[in-house]
Amino acid sequence: MAEETITSMLEERRKFAPPRNETAHIASMEQYAQWRARFEADREGAWRELALEHLHWQQPFTRVLNRERPPFFRWFEDGYLNVSENCLDRHVAAGHGARTAIIWEGEPGEVRRISYAELLAEVCRAANALKQLGIEAGDRVVIYMPMIPEAAVAMLACTRIGAVHSVVFGAFSAQALRDRIEDAQAKLVITADGGWRRGAVHDLKSKVDQALDGGGNSVRHVLVVRRGGNKVAWKPERDLDWQEVLCVESDVCPPARLNAEHPLFILYTSGSTGKPKGILHTTAGYLLWARLTMLWSFDFHAGRDVFWCTADIGWITGHTYSVYGPLACGGTTLMYEGVPTFPDPGRLWQICAAHDVTIFYTAPTAIRALIKAGDEWPARHDLSSLRVLGTVGEPINPEAWMWYYTVIGQRRCPIVDTWWQTETGGHMIAPLPFATPTKPGSATLPLPGIEADVVDGDGKSIAEGGGLLVIREPWPSMLRGIWGDEQRYLETYWRKFDGRFYFAGDGARRDEDGYIWIMGRVDDVLNVSGHRLGTMEIESALVAHEAVAEAAVVGRPDEVKGESICAFVVLKQGTPDEALRQALKRHVGEVIGAIAKPDEIRFAEALPKTRSGKIMRRLLRDIAAGREIRQDISTLEDAAVVRRLLEDQQG
Ligand code: PRX
Repeated sequence: MAEETITSMLEERRKFAPPRNETAHIASMEQYAQWRARFEADREGAWRELALEHLHWQQPFTRVLNRERPPFFRWFEDGYLNVSENCLDRHVAAGHGARTAIIWEGEPGEVRRISYAELLAEVCRAANALKQLGIEAGDRVVIYMPMIPEAAVAMLACTRIGAVHSVVFGAFSAQALRDRIEDAQAKLVITADGGWRRGAVHDLKSKVDQALDGGGNSVRHVLVVRRGGNKVAWKPERDLDWQEVLCVESDVCPPARLNAEHPLFILYTSGSTGKPKGILHTTAGYLLWARLTMLWSFDFHAGRDVFWCTADIGWITGHTYSVYGPLACGGTTLMYEGVPTFPDPGRLWQICAAHDVTIFYTAPTAIRALIKAGDEWPARHDLSSLRVLGTVGEPINPEAWMWYYTVIGQRRCPIVDTWWQTETGGHMIAPLPFATPTKPGSATLPLPGIEADVVDGDGKSIAEGGGLLVIREPWPSMLRGIWGDEQRYLETYWRKFDGRFYFAGDGARRDEDGYIWIMGRVDDVLNVSGHRLGTMEIESALVAHEAVAEAAVVGRPDEVKGESICAFVVLKQGTPDEALRQALKRHVGEVIGAIAKPDEIRFAEALPKTRSGKIMRRLLRDIAAGREIRQDISTLEDAAVVRRLLEDQQG
């Protein structure tokens, strides 16, 4: 696509930008440059100004950043505030109690609209219920729920009293849930009987029961929201009905006074070992950035916009952009319970039209699936309310970008390609929708305050070309660590460049205009449909099966999912047939969850290894993708292994 078209598109788009509040929105590249200059001149001063303007403090901070023990940075550390107060009370007090906070649509089609006043009352009732159950500030609460408003209520109720939530994606298995409960030593699990997915009720409560079976864990109670209406087992001494408990509670609960660095939530994500990492975020810094990025990279206007982020709250995207970001801004967020293509591939567009969605945020994988479904589906719905379109989770290919831009945005809506991670809390590299000229496939430039850089292996900045993506300066919403594993935090993100800067784990390229293009992970992390999965996690699951001696998992390019999972398996017993293949897939589904099931399992006699015993993953990636092998295989312990794998392929 020609660059000149992109600039002219920008002119066109500006016509659709609403009038703005100059302090909160960045409307031109001149303003962007001013912000960058402001940070360069006085970094802490700029953060101070933003934090005081954008958050409601019970006691304002005096110190912006404590760098005494890098990389354990502390932000606004002598300030006190409450996240739920910032997300709810503040807006009600400003006279917006009647404004819709959450629009919810269930998969069967029912709709709920919850105002700020109603949400505040419900969050207070839930917070009082948590207190009744003995939950105190600092205690961990696991939330394992479908996409229903109660999930957001549960998160906010935790923040109201200072409990630390850990949301576990509803499609994770009982075992994955148990691991997370144990790692965080949670006292309470909040769940639902079930939720609607693809026309049927997906059972959650039984998975919680399985996870807690055998006892020996820290969980005292399970609070169950009735949603699916499915029959569930009940342990009267442990299980409580959410509605029954809440209805006797008062709808007044003063927000706890919490330190800026009080832990807000843990969210587990995959890394390059078998064990997921509990990423820890804290109170003030996270919330500040959730709010600012809503304003900057989505141009979000509370009271006018209806914002829809399609991510499940089990992921960071759902945390920051379905719940905390929009609510910190006092705006309207839409939640949808079900599958985006149910009952037909027009469902997303029908919801956009029905609720006048103005800002729509999804993953490239969903866009590619919708392209495949055909243009007739969006054509059936009136999408004229849309004004900004976002993408996240993986690089977006230019074809998908152009389809999103022309068919969905009708050449009127800017596309914001947002690069960030669970660890970063919010967007890091993203266009400003009514300022930055975009290039399809590039996340463009770092947001103000973010010192993203592309460096070589020694940490030297690369002006133009490919290298590793790093962040040079601490930022408020950065992770504060890995729950219970200080060492892993240091090793994973800081050791590579001797603690000088944060290493994101992504490769990136910088072009002649300074635009950043994300090339994907450089470690053993897969990106399947925008979801992060560790190859080691899947390998550990496979070798836990009695038939498996050894396994190596690699990613393979996939037209829709970005990457698909290919596992090479060496058996110690059993017959390498279709039945075993299916059994192994099922097994991975049970250990981790359906999203981690290998798309392909290839049986091998042995895995290709170097003489020092390392599995040659690059080679396996080439074999999985059907690419020509250009690597020298002479260093392999047994070159015949590779030849056999290649022969199998041809056969
Ligand atoms: O590889 C990058 C990719 O997703 C990783 C982060 O995954 P997770 O923590 O699960 O968070 C996903 C949602 C924020 C990154 O290391 N990634 C994320 N956004 C983009 C991306 N790759 C390219 N372009 C993006 N916009």
